[in-house]
Amino acid sequence: VVVTGSGVSGDPRPLGVFDSGVGGLTVVRAIVDLLPGEPILYVGDNGRFPYGPRPVEQIRGFALEIAEHLVTRGVKMLVVACNSIEVAAISDLAAAHGVPVVGVIEPGARAAVRATRNGRVGLIGTEATVRSGAYDRAISALAPDVDVLSRACPAFVEHVERGDTSSDELLRRAREYLGPLREGGVDTLILGCTHYPMLSGLIQLVMGEDVVLVSSAEETAKDVYAALVSANLLRRDPAEPRHEFLTTGDRESFRRISHHFLGPELRGVGTAAVGVVEVAT
Ligand code: DGL
Repeated sequence: VVVTGSGVSGDPRPLGVFDSGVGGLTVVRAIVDLLPGEPILYVGDNGRFPYGPRPVEQIRGFALEIAEHLVTRGVKMLVVACNSIEVAAISDLAAAHGVPVVGVIEPGARAAVRATRNGRVGLIGTEATVRSGAYDRAISALAPDVDVLSRACPAFVEHVERGDTSSDELLRRAREYLGPLREGGVDTLILGCTHYPMLSGLIQLVMGEDVVLVSSAEETAKDVYAALVSANLLRRDPAEPRHEFLTTGDRESFRRISHHFLGPELRGVGTAAVGVVEVAT
């Protein structure tokens, strides 16, 4: 069957969204807000979480394996809802699969450059993301005069995966991680890990209300919309889409956390299958 976007009901295929765990759900949330008609097929690699401390080669292997699974399932686009995957594998993903690929780094860099008033931008992310220098490159290509101060915050993702967004221990960690960025005078902070928008209340509290937080999730959703329009891939069916969430880890804990983060108003999740993808560990 050849599916094209030109029919009256548009292209019914799902968007393939993936992350090392539940962080990519922040991107799902933002996509659903902008594009409520689009079905989503999500894979969280919770069985091999976290990716951040792993070598780039290994992250790349995992990413290609999951992308392969999504493409075999017939997705019309890959949304790399994970900065650590993007820094390790974006060009391989784009080359390998013949569907449009949307990432999170360029949209976040663009929004930060727009937002900064004093030319000092902070970046927080995993070790893999910070080490790669990908945001520094993306920002200096857009605005060579903007300074970037980066900090890896590895413990954040562990808290989020447990559903903890507000404990005292987490607040202590945030003060320790973010102190140098605050003192460095950044006026804009990129949440360069898709788990972090779930901590935006806590991060804003520590950074102070004058600092603009840039969520890669919302910026990426705008790019997904633009890419769907330009490739004529939008679904135009008025019937509600059906989403599907897959994890390589424990199904029940994934279901609990995704309900918590996606919210009950996201219709479809309650009845959507939470399946399991088999991968080697
Ligand atoms: N959510 C992922 C990111 O955006 C990383 C989490 C992890 O370390 O696995 O970088």
